[in-house]
Amino acid sequence: MTRTGWDVKQSETAKHTSNPIRAIVDQLKIVPCPGKDLISVSIGDPTVFGNLPTHDSVVDAVIDAVKSSKANGYTHSTGYEHAREAVAERYSHPDAPLTSKDVIIASGCSGALDLAITALANPGQNILIPRPGFSLYQTLADSKGIKVRHYNLLPEKNWEIDLEHLQSLVDDQTAAIVVNNPSNPCGSNYSRAHLLDILQLAEKNFLPIISDEIYADMVFSGQVFEPMAPLTKTVPILACGGIAKQFLVPGWRVGWLMIHDRNNTFKEIREGLLKLTTLILGANTIVQDALPTMLHKTPRGFLTATLATIEEHAKLSYEMLGKIDGLVPIMPQGTMYFMVGIQIEKFKDIANDMDFVQKLVTEQSVFALPASCFAYPNFFRIVITVPKDKLKIAYERLAEFCAQHRK
Ligand SMILES: Cc1ncc(COP(=O)(O)O)c(C=O)c1O
Repeated sequence: MTRTGWDVKQSETAKHTSNPIRAIVDQLKIVPCPGKDLISVSIGDPTVFGNLPTHDSVVDAVIDAVKSSKANGYTHSTGYEHAREAVAERYSHPDAPLTSKDVIIASGCSGALDLAITALANPGQNILIPRPGFSLYQTLADSKGIKVRHYNLLPEKNWEIDLEHLQSLVDDQTAAIVVNNPSNPCGSNYSRAHLLDILQLAEKNFLPIISDEIYADMVFSGQVFEPMAPLTKTVPILACGGIAKQFLVPGWRVGWLMIHDRNNTFKEIREGLLKLTTLILGANTIVQDALPTMLHKTPRGFLTATLATIEEHAKLSYEMLGKIDGLVPIMPQGTMYFMVGIQIEKFKDIANDMDFVQKLVTEQSVFALPASCFAYPNFFRIVITVPKDKLKIAYERLAEFCAQHRK
């Protein structure tokens, strides 16, 4: 057929790609109340307010990489050998040893998740993802024609997985289970016992796990983060991580995928992953080159200090929000998020979390993320890397807002 004019249409892939956070937030009118500065506690980016800079040694490592002129060229599509070695060394465990061959450097943890999901699932198959959960899993799956099934997390049990529900979703088209621990948006950190139960379910169903551990080690005092891979000798795991959160540099876009496969179950998957990395020829070389220094030379005290600040903010949040009738704050055990339940029945004119968040921004200039973005209505999520003085003001305004709308 001869074309007679311009008619350029977006592809099916583009059509099926959508970010639920954008889709939901775009329905809201973020117009603050005149006379009140907007306080946004919605963005999961710890750099927004400038109160949590990265460590000087991290900055120096990148400056050195640029000045050396040795990191300007293309690298192997799976990443520099020294960067992969650094990740392997840092995350190797006696019960789950890693070498550089088991590591792929990706464009952020998002890139690692993309590789993992694409390597494991075909269009039409399904992956099991948490509810509430990070929305990118669905975005990636939708865009590739992979179906998602949400398994429930239980807020009353520290957001543990409802294993019965998870099991009920498994069928012969299920390709993998995605587990996110510690969790965005819940801030939960699973016990070893719970992780073992999840692994047992995976084992019983012969299902590989994609373990999103971007918040690895980001847990509060008294908590221990348990990576999933050392807890099994049989379940194959693709563990995803990155520098975004623990080094407070999400814009640098470097993450990694770690292949844990003691029994060669992932022989084909390794080949597939390798092929998939050639699509974009790897991640930013400057930051990759800085990675060994970042992972091995950053003083431990840096992460401890970051976490102490976030934990202090979590305690403040729990204390102040706990006094507001109509809200149910759930104390996180790590990460940088805080989930708050809304007792809708206590309010005279609030229909749901979207309505709550919309009215809150219009009347009080405080913008929190409705948990509908995480497929979990009637909660909202607060990012607690926001400076303490701003959090306090936000919570005072929330208290006034709830008082005005309560029955
Ligand atoms: C659970 C989870 N996984 C992955 C990512 C993406 O990480 P990156 O910025 O390294 O792509 C995020 C970012 O917010 C996240 O919360």
